[in-house]
This record gives sequence, structure tokens and C-alpha cells, in this order.
Amino acid sequence: MKRNHNSMKLLLSATLLGFFTFIATGMDTNVSAQEAASQWTRDAASQATMNEGNTAPVIQMDDLQKIASDYYIWDTWPLQDRNGNIAVVNGYKIIFALTVPSDVLPGKRHDSSEIRYFYSKDGKSWKLGGLVFNDGKALGSRQWAGSAIIDKGGKVHIFYTATGRKNESQLTYEQRIATTTGKIVTSHTHVAFTDWSDHKIILQPEGQYYQTNEQSEQGEDSYAFRDPYFFQDPKTDEEYIVFEANSAGTLAERTDYLEQHGADGPQEFNGSIGIAKAVDGNLTEFEMLPPLLEANGVNEELERPTLSVKGNQYYLFTKTHPEKFAPGLDAPEGLYGFTSDTIMGGFHPLNGSGLVIANPKENPYQAYSWMVMQNGTVISFVNYVNVEGKNIYEIGEQSPEYQLAHFGGMLAPSLKLSITGDQTKIVHEKQQGVFH
Ligand code: FRU
Repeated sequence: MKRNHNSMKLLLSATLLGFFTFIATGMDTNVSAQEAASQWTRDAASQATMNEGNTAPVIQMDDLQKIASDYYIWDTWPLQDRNGNIAVVNGYKIIFALTVPSDVLPGKRHDSSEIRYFYSKDGKSWKLGGLVFNDGKALGSRQWAGSAIIDKGGKVHIFYTATGRKNESQLTYEQRIATTTGKIVTSHTHVAFTDWSDHKIILQPEGQYYQTNEQSEQGEDSYAFRDPYFFQDPKTDEEYIVFEANSAGTLAERTDYLEQHGADGPQEFNGSIGIAKAVDGNLTEFEMLPPLLEANGVNEELERPTLSVKGNQYYLFTKTHPEKFAPGLDAPEGLYGFTSDTIMGGFHPLNGSGLVIANPKENPYQAYSWMVMQNGTVISFVNYVNVEGKNIYEIGEQSPEYQLAHFGGMLAPSLKLSITGDQTKIVHEKQQGVFH
């Protein structure tokens, strides 16, 4: 029975067998053979070469300003409407960011991050509003990236990653997706959030499509179930959350299965982009669906995915690091993208390889966590600059002074991206802090 159970899990985890899922479970789902996860292949990823159209201009950190002098900020996202546009609330735009006080060692920031918000009338210069959840009720021992949307009457839904458990004595890397709903209130001078509902976990990995912490702990380092992004499909009005995950199963289970099916590439590289569909009007109940994209044998961390529609096409963007690609693949720190004319299935890499924006060779870690806005403006944050050929592990071994001096922890200059069909191109650099 145990064996059957495990092999069923394996069938389910291999999402190319969506068809079997349908037969085996008899579930009333949208899963069908056509809806198998798209695959980012080694062949495609190996074509990720840098050129004029995908290489960002070198960042001159000394010319830039922090929006909060006492804090480092990194992953940042705007308050959006349901169409993915930046919301304007009584003349204010609002952004959210992961933050830590600026005396925290940059590499340690993920262990204590909290979400702060900023607001702006001109959409360029941002004022710190404060902690989004200042009542200690946020879930997790720290909060990681998320997204936020506004509904009528100033109702705000925020989705975020609850990492670890509150008050845990030893830091853990469990990741769950949480939500709460509150109200935004504005005055002539200030923006505030009130009345947050009880925070609720809405998604956690089930081990069939998405790897659980326990499965990952059996032989792997990297684990992800995080970074929710709300998406309302303009073609159907269905509401979804997309998120970063790993393909399910332990390393041993996946290796057996993939070997039998002739897949190549090291099986610990199992990055995926997951999706779940809202099943109630309040955005608090979601049905897990098979992943939109898998990178088996290609990459182990497809961070902060977003989904959007332009023309008739769906666009899936994600960011990743060079060291997260499987051995044998040489691809830069960058924004990568995929497009399809249907939401479930059929995603193929933009520009052939998937590479959309790369850091320049002279400054290979200068920016990260790019997010593409509806009009093609791309925001990101300044990561490590002028590191004189050191890789990310070597940077981590430098003195605290070195790390602090070379880390930006601030918004980067924005970029303007043109997107036509399955081709993209960086058009020009925009001012720091511009989100539209
Ligand atoms: C990307 C990221 C996210 C995560 C956060 C944690 O910069 O790794 O995937 O939510 O940072 O700090």
C-alpha cells in the first residue's frame, strides 16, 4: 500500500502525466494532457547569451539614493489593481518591500526580513510609511516576497511568504503562502493600513505537484515554496496565485522516475513555477494546479514569478542566479521569461533561451529581483556592485565592511522593456524609483 501510494505520488509529481492524474484521481479538475507543465530545456537555457538587447547598463551606485536611509530594501512590489496596473489611491501610489535595518549583514537579511510600505504622489520619490504589519500578527518567523491588490472601497489583499514559524528557537526554512485583507486609509500627508483580518495560510506544498520541505531535506539544499503573485486572467476573469516552487518528490524518487523517462540533467535542479486557482470570492481558498513551468535538470530557483497578458499572449517572468543553473549551463544573473497563448501549458522561452535582462559582465551582481510592470517598465534593486570578479560565495566570505560597502539595498534605475510576441529588448534606462 505504501509502495502504491509512493508510486502514485510519483506519477502525480511528474506533471507531464497530467492525464494520469485525471484518470487516477477522478478529480473534477482542469487537469488534462494538454495542461502538462511546460519545460525549460537545457537546450534552450544553453542559448542564453548576452547582447545589446538584453544587457542592462552598468549601475553607478554613487549616483543613486536610498528611499529609506535606515533600511536596506530588496524585493519590491507595487499595490496593483486586478488588471496588474499600479493602483492610484487618492493620488498616491504605494509600494511594498522586504526590509531590514541597514546594520544587518546583507547576506543575513533573509533571516529577519519584514515588509514595509512606501508611498508617493509623483511615482518617483517614495516616503517610508512603516511596517505593513505592526501588530506582530504576521505569520512566519520572517516574511518574504509577495504581492498586493486593491479592491473597491479601499480593501487591500496582501499575499506573502511566511517563512519559518513565529517564535521558533532555531531558524527554519519552511515556506508557506499567507494572506490577509485590510483597508487602506489616506490623508493629505499620509497613507496607512488598518483592520488586517486574521492572517491565513492559503497554500502549502502537498508533495504531489510541489515539493515539501521534508522531501527536499532528503538530499537537497535548495528549497522553495514562496513568492505569491496575484493574477486575474483578463480573458476569463479567473483569479490565480503563481508562485516559486520545486517539482515534487525526493531526489531519489525523481531520479528514478526521470531516468526511466529519458530525461537528462542533474535531478537536484528542480525549480518550478506553480499556480493555484481561487475558488471563493474572498481570495482565501485556492485549488492547487500542476505547475506552469518546470526546469528539471536546468535550474533550482525560479524566483518571484509574475504572470501578465499583453495582446493575446500570456507572459511568465522569473529571476534567477548563475549558480542556480545546473552544471554545464552558463547563464547570467537575470530576468527570464516565457510566453504562451494559453494560460495552462504551452510556455516557451522568450528570445529562444528565456533570457530577457542580464547584469553587465563588468558588474555581474549589480541588480536583482526585476519585476515587469504592465507598460514594460522593469524595476529591481541594487544588489552587489564593483566586486572585482568575486563570485557570490566569495563576496559572502569578505569582511562585514566589504559586504556593507558593496551592497546597494536600494531601488535600481528602472529599465524600459519592449515586448513583441516572443521577443524582448531593453529600450533604455529610466530614473531610479519609477514604477510606471
Ligand atoms: C529574491 C528572494 C525571494 C524571497 C526573498 C527572501 O530576492 O530570494 O525569492 O522571497 O528574496 O529574502
